[in-house]
Amino acid sequence: MVGIGILGCGTIGPLHAEAIASIPGARLVAVADERPERAEELARKAGGDVVARRDLAGLLAVPGVDLVCVCTPSGTHGELGCAIARAGRHVVLEKPIDTDPGAADRVVAEAARAGVVLSVIAQHRFDDGLARLHRALATGELGEIVLGEGRAWWYRTQAYYDADAWRGTWALDGGALTNQGVHLVDLLCWLLGPVESVFARSRTAAHVMEAEDLLVASLRFASGALGALTVTTASFPGAPETIAVAGPEASVLVESGRVVSWRRAGDETGAGGPDPAAPAVASAARGSRGLAVDAHRAQLRDVVDAVREGRRPAVTGEDGRAALGVIAAAYASARSGGDVAVD
Ligand SMILES: NC(=O)c1ccc[n+]([C@@H]2O[C@H](COP(=O)([O-])OP(=O)(O)OC[C@H]3O[C@@H](n4cnc5c(N)ncnc54)[C@H](O)[C@@H]3O)[C@@H](O)[C@H]2O)c1
Repeated sequence: MVGIGILGCGTIGPLHAEAIASIPGARLVAVADERPERAEELARKAGGDVVARRDLAGLLAVPGVDLVCVCTPSGTHGELGCAIARAGRHVVLEKPIDTDPGAADRVVAEAARAGVVLSVIAQHRFDDGLARLHRALATGELGEIVLGEGRAWWYRTQAYYDADAWRGTWALDGGALTNQGVHLVDLLCWLLGPVESVFARSRTAAHVMEAEDLLVASLRFASGALGALTVTTASFPGAPETIAVAGPEASVLVESGRVVSWRRAGDETGAGGPDPAAPAVASAARGSRGLAVDAHRAQLRDVVDAVREGRRPAVTGEDGRAALGVIAAAYASARSGGDVAVD
């Protein structure tokens, strides 16, 4: 059994607990939050002999914690991940890997040095439609892809940003691109390969917050493909996020994790087209509390299997760092007004 601890019992921590409950070979051992009532409530709900602690040191002191899921504000992930790796435990960081590329580099290096598994949550890779699109791109059955597009027209109220002091700050959260758009950035890199350079414009259009709530970017992939990214939390009432890829032989549109259009030249039968049997994935357009647990369960199951089998997880720390590199380049571009190479 892989014993798991959860650090951070706010919005997303309880979803990790729900996912872990049905993963074979995994057991939730302890939860911790600096707001002790949150940890106690989650421990009570999880049942069994799950114990509640106040901080990482307390969590790591509980016997049987082999892996820690970090569900704290984004700008704390790198440092906490380093401490967990130094303690010889495996690490799952909620997305993004951190807000600071330097902190992201440190946690990737620390996990490698300690020989522990490090994974960054990118749960939408496990949505049916996106997994199917990834397989088709890997086998080349869609031909050359020249265009990739990610769109998240989401909506968050001012109350969402006011609810916790860390939300919308550069240090701990970032804006719509770092918090919400990181999913699309990761998916585009996973599907189309590394991004070479970014040109972006951004605004804080509809909220009182430090970081941006609206960003549009043009991407150039190393493959030569071009990309477009539109991310906002200022679009009432919010719409399902979409990923689209296109080339001279095929185009595919995935909405909220489900294929809604799959067209290939010479195939007018619609074969391989939208899959009405695929269950709809809850869109995060209006907030995380409505997130479906299935995709998190699939990713955490892969991490548990990686620990048991001594292999790398499907989503690595390097993947999380790559997405943050694109985000950092987009912000640098929005500040400078020029095209910025991804480091
Ligand atoms: N994968 C997804 O789709 C998804 C969805 C929502 C949130 N997230 C990510 O999860 C992370 C947390 O988001 P949230 O909405 O759950 O935030 P939240 O504010 O609701 O919860 C964070 C919790 O962490 C606790 N905390 C903060 N620092 C701590 C520390 N050092 N030690 C112990 N506890 C600490 C806080 O008291 C709080 O209860 C963010 O990085 C966010 O980007 C991911």
